[in-house]
Amino acid sequence: MEEAKVQETRAQVSPAKLAHFVLVTRDMARLRDWYLTVLEGRVAYQDPLLCFITYDDEHHRIAIGALPGVQERAPGMRVGLHHTAFTYRDLGDLLYTYRRLKNRAIEPFWTINHGPTTSMYYRDPDGNRVELQVDNFATAEEASDFMRAHYAENPIGILFEPEELIARYEAGEPLEALRRRPLLPPGRTPLDMLRD
Ligand SMILES: [Fe+2]
Repeated sequence: MEEAKVQETRAQVSPAKLAHFVLVTRDMARLRDWYLTVLEGRVAYQDPLLCFITYDDEHHRIAIGALPGVQERAPGMRVGLHHTAFTYRDLGDLLYTYRRLKNRAIEPFWTINHGPTTSMYYRDPDGNRVELQVDNFATAEEASDFMRAHYAENPIGILFEPEELIARYEAGEPLEALRRRPLLPPGRTPLDMLRD
């Protein structure tokens, strides 16, 4: 049973999970439909001001507020949140989702093997970046080991072509090979791997 005392006896009290994020927009329907499509989500609640979206057992993962007076986003890279990321169960699900979205004219602007993840970055209709990814390692420990060993050389990753990865996947190439991050091409730096 949970101890019903608030004392300084608990070793570490971090949040139990990351719960949701909230966007404000000038066009709720457009943003809502994009997230419903991309995440294969459902509306948990909606009124003229707010829309709550979920795709799993959480009551909401994303909320969208169409609040009065919201300003358009200024262009360029801005201080603050760069992107949010969603992890798929396996590479097949990620590649399937890539194709499903491509068929609806939703395409990533950046596809990169970070090392720990194979990642595809999209922009929602308001310009917020969304990463769809799959873990390249079975455990967080292996991913951390990779970061310690390889991030000093290249903390960004290596670009990949999604259709080429799909062809290799469908040809039956082993998962270990598909997930392995290649070396930086000669003369290239990690910053060459950035896209925005
Ligand atoms: Fe990320």
